[in-house]
Amino acid sequence: MPSHRHGLRFGLTGPVFTTGHVVSIIGPLRFSSLAQIVVVPDGSKARAWLAEENSVDRSSLLTTTKWEKPPGRGEILAGFLAPHPPHLVYAENPPQNRPKSQGGWDTLRQGYQRCREKIKVLKPDVILIHSPHWQTVVGHHFLGVPKLSGLSVDPIFPHLFQYQFEMTVDVALADACAEEAMAEGLLVQKMTNPNFRVDYGTIVSLHMLNPDWDIPVLGISAHNSPYYFSHDDAQDQMIKLGQATRKAIEKTGRRAVLAASNTLSHLHFEREPDPPEDMSQEHIYSPQQYQWDMMIIRLLQQGRWDEFQRMLPEFIEKTAAEVKAGSLMWMLSALDFPTIEAHLHAYGPVIGTGNAIMEWDLQAGCPQKTEPGGRL
Ligand SMILES: [Fe+2]
Repeated sequence: MPSHRHGLRFGLTGPVFTTGHVVSIIGPLRFSSLAQIVVVPDGSKARAWLAEENSVDRSSLLTTTKWEKPPGRGEILAGFLAPHPPHLVYAENPPQNRPKSQGGWDTLRQGYQRCREKIKVLKPDVILIHSPHWQTVVGHHFLGVPKLSGLSVDPIFPHLFQYQFEMTVDVALADACAEEAMAEGLLVQKMTNPNFRVDYGTIVSLHMLNPDWDIPVLGISAHNSPYYFSHDDAQDQMIKLGQATRKAIEKTGRRAVLAASNTLSHLHFEREPDPPEDMSQEHIYSPQQYQWDMMIIRLLQQGRWDEFQRMLPEFIEKTAAEVKAGSLMWMLSALDFPTIEAHLHAYGPVIGTGNAIMEWDLQAGCPQKTEPGGRL
């Protein structure tokens, strides 16, 4: 009995085809009466083969149109909470960064190392990133220039981060995201300035996730709505932006990885040790900030979205949490508030802030151990 998958494969003993020509079979088939349309690589050879295999006259086999495998529905493979302290790139000493260090913050960097290995396995078409440090006042912006390069400097830590960046942008996906976001009623723009200086938040997270820069990216700005409107309005915008992003990924057939470039608790020390990588001086800002971070991480791990939503305003207020900018909410929405257990790769302080590196693996994610608290 031949293996038969309508329109894709035909014949256990014969060739198995995935692309080529559509052949309509109007004669009787020896193997199966089910296969009336098959796909073969070459029209004339296919007719001969099918005629012989099925003991029918070639004239009963009609070649129709050239068949091309339709683009698969795109999907999000995984999402990463990917904080962006420039200290991590500084500690890595990559050739792109001018300041040099003696290392430091190893636990966080090892967490990122595990993410890199995972991304190498996933082989995504694109990494999308939402960064709090690309702040836009009028609407949500998408990088819209195919190649961007230049020098990016952290305005607060210029002695740690002066990075020569070079990136390939998935402009077609930017177009699709903008279109879907507009359909959600959001104000959007494409960033088309070829000399645009990409912010350090975008660059740090992308470098730590993929230092080879061999995967196209799509940067998304943080519309400043959290600072101008109410918390609910601002996070609602991010939920819509996440939904639009997911639809655009599906429509364009992309296999995508998402990165939310957010630190959790964000109160930090005002004085820096000398050298900055003196790890004997590094610790979380306060025990309260640590407790808040642990609670939020647990909610994220277990997908307790109702509780997460309830706690978010207080978490932001008490710890100046950087998730206020919406990157995390954008990603969770794009992931459709996943009902899988998130993996905590690392947690650690940087000048007192709380940084969690987390992963939602939508391909291999295991069900949550506890009941999710429902969706936002
Ligand atoms: Fe930041």
